[in-house]
Amino acid sequence: MRSPRVSVAPPRREAGRQSLILDVDTGIDDMLALLYAAGHPDVDLVAVTTVAGNVGVDDVVCNTLGVLELAGAGHVEVAAGAAGPIARTLCTTPETHGPHGLGHAVVDPVGTVSGRSAVTLLLEEARARPGEITLVTMGPLTNLAAAVLAEPNLPLLLKDVWVMGGTFTGAGNVAPRVEWNIHVDPEAARTVFHQWSTATERGATPITVMGLDVTETSQFHARDLVAVAEAAGIGTIGGTDKEVMAAPLGNPVLDLVRDALRFYFEFHEEYDGFYGAHVHDPFVVGAALDPTLVEVRSTVVDVDLGGGHTDGETVADWRGHVDKPVNAFVALSGDGPKFIARLRAVLAELACRVTA
Ligand code: RIB
Ligand code: CA
Repeated sequence: MRSPRVSVAPPRREAGRQSLILDVDTGIDDMLALLYAAGHPDVDLVAVTTVAGNVGVDDVVCNTLGVLELAGAGHVEVAAGAAGPIARTLCTTPETHGPHGLGHAVVDPVGTVSGRSAVTLLLEEARARPGEITLVTMGPLTNLAAAVLAEPNLPLLLKDVWVMGGTFTGAGNVAPRVEWNIHVDPEAARTVFHQWSTATERGATPITVMGLDVTETSQFHARDLVAVAEAAGIGTIGGTDKEVMAAPLGNPVLDLVRDALRFYFEFHEEYDGFYGAHVHDPFVVGAALDPTLVEVRSTVVDVDLGGGHTDGETVADWRGHVDKPVNAFVALSGDGPKFIARLRAVLAELACRVTA
C-alpha cells in the first residue's frame, strides 16, 4: 500500500570554503577530481581515502599520491582503504582506465601512504570535526559501508555526503540500468543506503547521489584541453583532436591530463561513439561545492542484489511504495557544461602555478 512520499528539501549550503574528504578509486576521472579539489580556492582538502575499483588499491594509492604531488598538494594525507568488495571478487576495469589507472600517464610519487586506514581516518576526522566535513565518494562504497557499520552515527557526524554512483533515469555503463561504482560492490552500496535511512530519522542529512544520467552531461573534449593550454599561457595547440591529444605541452599537470585523457578518449570512441570523455567524478566535487549545478529530489534509494542483469541497480522509490525514511537526494538534472568551464579554469590556474 503506497503512502504519499513527503518530499524533503536539501539543506541550504552557504557558499565559501568547504572541508572535503574524497574517497577515490583513481582512475582517470578521479584524477581530474583530485586536481579540481587541490586547485579550487574554496576547498580545504582534509584527506583522501582510497578504495579498489577501477584498478587495485595499491595502484589507486600510487596514482592518488602522484596526482596530489603534481598538483602541489603532496602534504594531503592519503589513506589506503579496501582492497576489494565486501562479499564479491574484485572486478577492475583496465580497459577503461588503463592497466594502472591513469591511462597512458605514469606517476612516480615520493610520498607515502598514511599510517591510518581509510576507515580509521574517516571516523577520527568526522569525530574530531563534527558537522564540518563533506565526504565525496567516487568509487565503490566499500570504505563508507565499513565506516558506517563501525560508527552508526557517522551520518550525523558528517556535514554532507555526495556519491558518484548509480543511474536513475538513464542507461547503465555495466548493464542496462547498472553503474560501475555500485556494480563493483552492491552489498556495500545497499548497506550505506540502509544505514542512512535509520540515521535520517535521527536528523542526518540524506546522501546526495549523482548518477550517470547526470554526470554524463559533464564531457571533456580536445577543445577543452586547447582552451586550458591557452588560458595557462602555454600557447595554442593546433591540429585534429587526436593531434591535440598527442601534442607536447611541457607542463607537468597538463601532460598528465593529456596522457591520461588520451586513453579515456580512445575508450569512449570505441564504446560511446565520441572522441572525448564523460568526466563523472570532478562534476560531483563541483556540485558538492555548488549544489546549484544540479536539481535533486528526495526519495528512498535501495540497491538490487537479485543477480541477473539488474544486480547492482540503484532503485529510487518516487511514489512512496517503500515505507522507509528518505535516505537520498537524487540528482535528476545537472549543468555539465557549466561545470566543465569551471574545471578548465581550475586546471589552467594549476598549470600556471605548477611549472616543469
Ligand atoms: O561509472 C563511472 C564511475 O566509475 C567513475 O567514478 C569512474 O571513475 C569509475 O570509478
Ligand atoms: Ca571513480
